[in-house]
Amino acid sequence: MIWSRIVGTGGYLPPKVVTNDDLAKRMDTSDEWIRTRTGIRQRHVADPSQACSDLAAEASRAALAASGVSAAEIDLIIVATATPDYVFPSTACIMQAKLGAKGCAAFDIQAVCSGFVYAVAVADKLIRSGQHRCALVVGSEVYSRILDWSDRGTAVLFGDGAGAAILKADSRPGILGSVLHADGSYADILSVPGNVCGGKIVGSPFLQMDGQAVFKFAVKVLDEVARETLAQCGLTVADVDWLIPHQANVRILEATAKKIGLDRSKLVVTVDRHANTSAASVPLALDLAIRDGRIKPGHKVMLQGVGGGFTWGASLVEM
Ligand code: ACO
Repeated sequence: MIWSRIVGTGGYLPPKVVTNDDLAKRMDTSDEWIRTRTGIRQRHVADPSQACSDLAAEASRAALAASGVSAAEIDLIIVATATPDYVFPSTACIMQAKLGAKGCAAFDIQAVCSGFVYAVAVADKLIRSGQHRCALVVGSEVYSRILDWSDRGTAVLFGDGAGAAILKADSRPGILGSVLHADGSYADILSVPGNVCGGKIVGSPFLQMDGQAVFKFAVKVLDEVARETLAQCGLTVADVDWLIPHQANVRILEATAKKIGLDRSKLVVTVDRHANTSAASVPLALDLAIRDGRIKPGHKVMLQGVGGGFTWGASLVEM
């Protein structure tokens, strides 16, 4: 039987750090308001010269180095992003050229903050089918480009970054199970409702959100999808070593852990330093907890996404 395993991860955060106090100088907000409502202390912001594919390529190089896999071995690239370089070609194709990984399949997935979890599930299925053997799965975002910096209700919540994982075919189990969901009737509570038409922006190019509706929806579905994924794997919450939900807000993370019945100490939190990096948040948190030694070989890690669409999903991964 063929399984897929995560054999290496990488992350990249642009060097420029913007603190809550920095934001308070340009809009009517405060470090105290942002920290108590969200847990966020700072975020990284990409330089105007950096595209989504540049962040993705940096994270991918780190994942390749960690796994000992060469770019030539990759036969599938999936980039999860809501902030692509262009309308087309895909950010995955642009990044493929930057990595020198010519010829392999490459495409983007658009599931907003659930994008990485969607991409892992798809890569896992393509590997388990025998069609592919070595996948590079990336979440990369430059949300600073789609924020209205005069809107304190949204601008303080997001950051830029990228995270990547290499999945390889193996005879030992790695991705134990995955569940994906969406409900498009909730499209309005989190969206960038614009597009380019006839050379003009039609609608709005900025992120808009009903924060309280998002909060309630996220906690509900993150709990449900954790239980559904564990049931699919024939395991219980006691088997989970680490919980890595999408990093939107520390209050959402803590409420989710509590509902699932997991101790706070098993929660990986990066939202305080990275803010919400959408599709990049889960792989960045996974990479950080592997590199700092918390996640060890054999540990079972629950990855969870939730975001615009609305989309949500989870994968249970044995490292
Ligand atoms: N600084 C200071 N005051 C602010 C700010 C700010 N940055 N933003 C809003 N306020 C004010 C509002 O104007 C309002 O003032 P008023 O009472 O005078 O009208 C007051 O604070 C309360 O606003 P609410 O929106 O009711 O604040 P709430 O307690 O709901 O917190 C928040 C807002 C943090 C967005 C919360 O709803 C939340 O965390 N929601 C989840 C959304 C989220 O995480 N989104 C990320 C993207 S979604 C995803 O990734 C799945």
